[in-house]
Amino acid sequence: MTQIDSTPSATATGTGISRVVHAGSADADQWWRQAVIYQVYPRSFADSDGDGIGDLPGVTAHLDHLVELGVDALWLSPFYRSPQRDAGYDVADYRDVDPLFGTLADFDELLAAAHARGVRIVVDLVPNHTSNEHVWFQEALAAPEGSPARARYLFRDGRGESGELPPNNWQSIFGGDAWTRTTRPDGTPGQWYLHLFDTTQPDLDWTNPEVRDEFEAVLRFWLDRGVDGFRVDVAHGMVKADGLPDWDGHVSMVEGSDASGADGATDQGSTGTGNSGPMFDQDGVHEIYRAWRRVLDEYPGDRAMVAEAWVEPLSRLARYVRPDEMHQAFNFSFLCTAWDAARLRAVVEASFAANDAVGAPSTWVLSNHDVVRHATRLGLDSPDARPNGIFAHDPQPDVVLGLRRARAATLLMLGLPGSAYVYQGEELGLPEHTALDADVRQDPAFFRTQGAEAGRDGCRVPLPWVADAPGFGFGPTGETWLPQPDAYRDHAADVERRTPGSTFDLYRTALRVRRAERLGTGTLAWTEPFAQDPQVVAFRNRDVLVVTNLGDALVALPRSVEVLAASGPLDRGPYGETSVPSDTTVWVRA
Ligand code: NOJ
Repeated sequence: MTQIDSTPSATATGTGISRVVHAGSADADQWWRQAVIYQVYPRSFADSDGDGIGDLPGVTAHLDHLVELGVDALWLSPFYRSPQRDAGYDVADYRDVDPLFGTLADFDELLAAAHARGVRIVVDLVPNHTSNEHVWFQEALAAPEGSPARARYLFRDGRGESGELPPNNWQSIFGGDAWTRTTRPDGTPGQWYLHLFDTTQPDLDWTNPEVRDEFEAVLRFWLDRGVDGFRVDVAHGMVKADGLPDWDGHVSMVEGSDASGADGATDQGSTGTGNSGPMFDQDGVHEIYRAWRRVLDEYPGDRAMVAEAWVEPLSRLARYVRPDEMHQAFNFSFLCTAWDAARLRAVVEASFAANDAVGAPSTWVLSNHDVVRHATRLGLDSPDARPNGIFAHDPQPDVVLGLRRARAATLLMLGLPGSAYVYQGEELGLPEHTALDADVRQDPAFFRTQGAEAGRDGCRVPLPWVADAPGFGFGPTGETWLPQPDAYRDHAADVERRTPGSTFDLYRTALRVRRAERLGTGTLAWTEPFAQDPQVVAFRNRDVLVVTNLGDALVALPRSVEVLAASGPLDRGPYGETSVPSDTTVWVRA
């Protein structure tokens, strides 16, 4: 057991500050510096019309769940017109709602209802590619080679004697070639077009001013409707290196780029998950965000942008959040850090160093719609495992350990200053669905890898709202677009909400204390005697001491502490002192 000395220099809790890492934020009135933002994945949140697919009225109907939870804002994954080849990340019309999800009037109603409750709305913007059903791509296919309609995308002649080889060797992030060959009206093979993702997601050419103008108009369309900001998809991918040179690296959303990871992997806090190569993180992207920032700044009310950019090291990611660019970037280095005290400290420290240098808030995230849910990930055998989905025939996670660690990880995360993201269902302690049959899977990554990767369906399963209802109350008919595992019954929102100590109760408590103690704009100082401890992460944020025990032995706190939140039951040491068991986080008043 680690016993904390109550030395004269120690504080009320018996711990002393070792080093201040982050000094706190002066701009507490800028909501995005400290917001807890809840990700709604509309097709899996709540279904109002009984077709088994969630929709916007379903979100409106459950807003009070989110208000009770205490979040500041919602980020809505795409709900725009789309053939749904990549669950809406293939947009056919950026200015309309897909009938699956409702209408523009439903969106306006949701926005008004959220605003009436003091909750902001951030919408997803997908600018790297459109759907192949977008009018521009249809025009491009019908237009001659070299025409202005083709110049909005990346059409190129093939290599080889008759253009039979793709223009370069790039691979799609979902697997397979990143190029697809078109067929001319006379039936002969034509040019190729680039798609970093599915064949149905052609990449736009961001060197074309028409593309830039169009997206600024799309921004204004949603800003005029009153949205509070944008989450920008593939924010590091829109500009490609001149000449589209060959590249021998491999790209994957969760694994990073193995040919070039060297720049990041050695850096403190890096996890080797950054994407690089000539299709990512090119300097030219920043000019786009500067222009967008000027657009947002024309609007009243503190509108914000967050970059989805799988870029490492963190100092490189911080270039996206310089004062005249975006407001935030997702911290995937944090998400990808193993359950290990030294590595967690390193990533937290590197995050503050990088973001503080440009005056941006650090963000924190553990789960989203692209990765294995953290309640499952943290129950896998290897602390470094980051599979792209889990099959029934794969080694299965330890669900009890996973949830225990997930709760501890979340309480650690919510104790950090900055802005935090919560993915729908994690407040219920939902695990990944690890046994989906092949015939129900829908992620293009599963198909494009010929089933080698399970893909992301397991983290996208419809939410359980009511334990004793068909489809666990997801909608009125019991239909759900993906089957729910039986285990979801124990996590249903109605049960979680009324059960003291449930995961929902933990999140609700943590968000209440976080707000009351102003932790979002607070400070971060490592505390002794844990500053180098291989088993413990401990820091002080304002008047709150956060202690996470990642080791096996109990960690004792001095006798008289006021416990503000705990991720699991606490223990007593031999002298009756409050002690933190393994894989548990506690917040105490410092
Ligand atoms: C990142 C999104 O989060 C993911 O779901 C999507 O498949 C790709 N970008 C392509 O848009």
